[in-house]
Amino acid sequence: MRLLVTGGAGFIGSHFVRAVLADRLPGLAGASITVLDNLAYAGSFANLAPVAESERLDFVPADMADDSVAGYAMRGHDAVIHFAGSRTGLDVHGAQVLLDAALTCEISRFIHISTGEVYGTIDTGAWTERSAVAPTTPRAAAKAGADLMALAYHRTHGLPVVVTRGSDNYGPYQDPGRTVPGLVTALLEGRTARLHGDGTRVRDWLHVDDHCRGIALALLDGRPGEIYHIGGSVELADRDLAGMILAELGAGWDAIELTGNGKDQDHRHALDDDKIRRELGWRPRVEFTAGLSATIRWYRANPSWWRPLLPT
Ligand SMILES: NC(=O)c1ccc[n+]([C@@H]2O[C@H](COP(=O)([O-])OP(=O)(O)OC[C@H]3O[C@@H](n4cnc5c(N)ncnc54)[C@H](O)[C@@H]3O)[C@@H](O)[C@H]2O)c1
Repeated sequence: MRLLVTGGAGFIGSHFVRAVLADRLPGLAGASITVLDNLAYAGSFANLAPVAESERLDFVPADMADDSVAGYAMRGHDAVIHFAGSRTGLDVHGAQVLLDAALTCEISRFIHISTGEVYGTIDTGAWTERSAVAPTTPRAAAKAGADLMALAYHRTHGLPVVVTRGSDNYGPYQDPGRTVPGLVTALLEGRTARLHGDGTRVRDWLHVDDHCRGIALALLDGRPGEIYHIGGSVELADRDLAGMILAELGAGWDAIELTGNGKDQDHRHALDDDKIRRELGWRPRVEFTAGLSATIRWYRANPSWWRPLLPT
């Protein structure tokens, strides 16, 4: 199978690429990959270093919205896994360029990777795939727009699109601007770690490896035109997450500064993932405390990866 992976140099996309090329994802053994990535914010070829020599990997350093490149790069591939995003209005246009190219190239499966952020915020319970999108931030609105565009290409043109919406991810190779690596790298550097908001924000945490297994199952067996949630294994307020990281690194609360500025943050996200469990047999495998410890060990062992990414 030949896969075109947009955003394959980013956090989740590069995990997917490394896992496929190591033959660790179900049903994708032997698959070859072309990564289409313009190495924008958080994208780096260093994320693909462990597989850079693989004969099954090609890299096209280009913008997904460049229609002269998208069709050319996509030709000869069986499926597209679309991770790329900068969370701006450009993402809707970029998705449309890729969807048009997928129609022309008669791609047999287009997996559009999305997030629970498109639903906004929920006080109790969890969103199902039938819940209405109600994004509350411009970046989530851009993401929701791209999702709707992908689903419209299925309804209007019959393009075999599957949309996945995942919970907040953690794991190795995540940019230190994000919550878990932001806390971990600051504490490893002996600096004060900044936690946005007042610490009460609640997220459902999904290990990047569990996310990528869910994406592989959606690619192989997901029904075209359907949305599948890929939920986390634990729901935590930020202050509880920070407490676990502090304990793991032997630091105290004096190392944390609450910024109080959480205006761009939904209070709580929660995805009901019953559908992917029932239809595709997915389950999260990484227990949260074990996954968090392994992630912290990875950051401790790889300062040469994250130090250049710290804000100056
Ligand atoms: N990080 C999370 O917690 C999370 C959770 C659920 C879903 N998602 C979704 O997964 C996808 C990947 O997220 P991530 O955290 O890996 O992001 P990331 O920022 O680490 O990676 C995005 C990648 O896309 C590339 N890119 C951006 N604009 C591009 C363009 N115009 N052309 C080509 N490449 C471009 C970047 O260079 C980067 O390599 C996104 O669609 C995101 O919405 C993320």
